[in-house]
Amino acid sequence: LKSTIELANGVAMPTFGLGVWQMKDGEEVSNAVKWAIEAGYISIDTAAEYGNESGVGKGIKESGINREDLFVTTKVRSEMQGYESTLQAYEDSLERLGLDYVDLYLVHWPVEGKTKDTWRALEKLYKDKKVRAIGVCNFHVHHFEELLKDAEIVPMVNQIELHPLLSQEPIREYCNEHNIVVEAYSPLGSGKILNHPVIQEIAEKYNKTVAQVLLRWDIQIGVVTIPKSTHKERIYENADIYDFELTQEDMDNINALNKNERVGGNPENLPI
Ligand code: A2P
Repeated sequence: LKSTIELANGVAMPTFGLGVWQMKDGEEVSNAVKWAIEAGYISIDTAAEYGNESGVGKGIKESGINREDLFVTTKVRSEMQGYESTLQAYEDSLERLGLDYVDLYLVHWPVEGKTKDTWRALEKLYKDKKVRAIGVCNFHVHHFEELLKDAEIVPMVNQIELHPLLSQEPIREYCNEHNIVVEAYSPLGSGKILNHPVIQEIAEKYNKTVAQVLLRWDIQIGVVTIPKSTHKERIYENADIYDFELTQEDMDNINALNKNERVGGNPENLPI
């Protein structure tokens, strides 16, 4: 759980963390955060859009973990995109989280006519050392090409929907070439691929669960993964993926499942 990948600026980002999309603010999210930290998670991924930053902050505080031992990600919501409004959105997120910095601040979605100004604000926050790393979410190759025409800093991370039914190879290849770390959201397909027969068969062979095989696949293809669960036993189960290794044959069988099938919104045709 403490394994990390080095971002372009040298910051070590944990390769495994807790995603809190769709968790309710208050007890639900703060308990999940506390259980995760107790289970050894050192990375928590939230967003202003999720409406649960306060509960995340409460969970972090109550866990008693040292701030510097934790890697916290949040994101600017689309309504707040633009230069000044993003600078403000960052301060608002810090206040809700009860933190004085986040480790990684991301642009949540491409927004037409706004994303370049938003990115300038993230560059400013980074240069002012208010945040340790900056990146984007839901970016396709054409989004990067447009942004990089006048960006000073290349995004360090691209967080995208990624699981075996949507393996995102073209984007992964582009990101690898540009030293951008890929982070998988909905790694369990939002829970919708947990009864996939091919993965079930593989899971039985290793005496692991389907969720564990899906997450192990992320580790082995070299992407950061952030499964979501509000259940204590599943939070522990999802982290228990470091005592086995999928063979190349099983990796190939899982890789062959790609159907470009999404469970979430499609950012592909959104202009920036
Ligand atoms: P719950 O939060 O009730 O545990 P994703 O990370 O792809 O978004 O998937 C999250 C979904 O998968 C949630 O519905 C979550 O339910 C469910 N889930 C997470 N971990 C497991 C697990 N180990 N076994 C079964 N379902 C899981």
